Amino acid sequence: MSTILSTLNDFQLPAELEPYKAYWPVLLSGAVVLGVRNLFAVPRELRHLPKVSVIRTLWSFIRGEVEDVRIKKLLLPYANKGEPAVLVYALGRWIVHVLDRKIAKDLSADIVTYPKEVPPDGLLLWRFVGYQNVILSNGEAWKRHHKVVKTALDRNVPIGEFSTLAKKLFVQMGNGGLLHWNDLTMRYTLDAVGTTAIGHDFDAINNHDSPFVKKYNHVMESIANPAYLAIDELVAMFQGILTFKKENPGNDMLTYMLEDKNMNDTEYRDNMVVFFIAGHDTTAGAMSSLSYYMAMKPEIQQRAREEVRAAMAKNTTNGEPTMAELAQMPYLQACIRESLRVNTPITYMVPRAAMKDAVFTGSNGKEAFIPAGSSIITNITAIHYKEDYWSNPTEFIPERFMNLSESQEKEYDATQWLPFALGSRMCPARNFAMYEQRVLAAMLLNEWEWTIPSDSEHIAGIKNGFSPFALSLPQNLYLNFKPARK
Ligand code: HEM
Repeated sequence: MSTILSTLNDFQLPAELEPYKAYWPVLLSGAVVLGVRNLFAVPRELRHLPKVSVIRTLWSFIRGEVEDVRIKKLLLPYANKGEPAVLVYALGRWIVHVLDRKIAKDLSADIVTYPKEVPPDGLLLWRFVGYQNVILSNGEAWKRHHKVVKTALDRNVPIGEFSTLAKKLFVQMGNGGLLHWNDLTMRYTLDAVGTTAIGHDFDAINNHDSPFVKKYNHVMESIANPAYLAIDELVAMFQGILTFKKENPGNDMLTYMLEDKNMNDTEYRDNMVVFFIAGHDTTAGAMSSLSYYMAMKPEIQQRAREEVRAAMAKNTTNGEPTMAELAQMPYLQACIRESLRVNTPITYMVPRAAMKDAVFTGSNGKEAFIPAGSSIITNITAIHYKEDYWSNPTEFIPERFMNLSESQEKEYDATQWLPFALGSRMCPARNFAMYEQRVLAAMLLNEWEWTIPSDSEHIAGIKNGFSPFALSLPQNLYLNFKPARK
């Protein structure tokens, strides 16, 4: 400031303005204040909506708080006061966060008026994910991608592969002891998505030095560093798998996708990267969270174990659960659903762009006007914690998903239980992901018992790490495993 002032003092003004030079400091401070105010000013058309304090938001970022913590501290109070939507400042703009289940549903039902926003060019993250894929496209291109991806995903649910990988994981777990569980679940889901979706064995469970895993972790850690170029090497590795798959088809989703000739090479590759990214961190986070809650509540773990053992009492497939046996495990299913609610892997959905003005009515009758041009985010964590929708929302209570009538269950899934989003753009792999967890959890319960060390950093509540995709992924989660009593 003093340098600027001395430079300004040296500046030659017309003679009649010279006496006003003494006011430079005041004028300059005013300009700075106005500049800052303009920077954070809410556009006129959004001013009717409540806004989360910029200072508190920036402070939360400065303190390095992760997404779910920020949402619970700063946005949830608005949801619990009955506000259907709130403005949040992020990366130079104001975004409308939807906190209401009815508005979330209405928005998701109209993918033409509320398409996904295409992120700005040049961000490294998107250089890796690519733009020509099911996750970022809209309109006719999305329909084409969605059809190919969904057909590939629905062809079969690879529960046999999930069991084989679970056994591989158990070998790695040895005699148990204190294990870095979020790392092991990540290795499991990486191999699951690798073998079943991409048709490539990353060998992450067995090989702690798997070059693919190393490269991916390195890229994710450095994603905020614009000078980083290894991303191109990673993309090239995916291109290599694609080229190989074309010559060597297998029993995997990429092979099924390649049977459809309606995509070009960039599109196949970008969709592979999407499978890889969307398919492993999310399920790894979900598995870590489920194991965490079961460690914190041993009585729940034991009840689930008894259910699994009863369902598998006559198992003839070497401890690998069959579809029919999995169907006999409603309590385990309720535990998985509850864990996906209470530590939902995806905290909020990709921003949507409003193409026209509209007034939405929330579930409590309160209206929210969302003008054309707004960026809208459906905030899953806020909806999963809203007191009006859930009793004791911070508690892990699987019973809330037990004995629901079919219509109640449908109502939950279509409105307030949103781990996989809703509407036609909901996760096309929800079935895949649910079975992946059901198989691994059933086998774990059958074979192992686990507890959380009393000095764990998660004792007071689950702690997620930083994720460039705003995912809730427990970090530094160590659990104590021992073979389960038969
Ligand atoms: C527990 C695990 C998972 C969770 C919680 C989850 C959640 C979600 C959510 C919330 C969305 C919607 C995002 C949005 O519209 O803003 C989504 C989309 C998607 N997910 Fe998943 N997902 C999981 C596992 C998977 C797996 C295993 C795969 C692939 C193998 C996958 C592939 C996709 C794809 C391709 C989309 C984009 C769909 C579209 O835009 O039309 N997901 N997922």
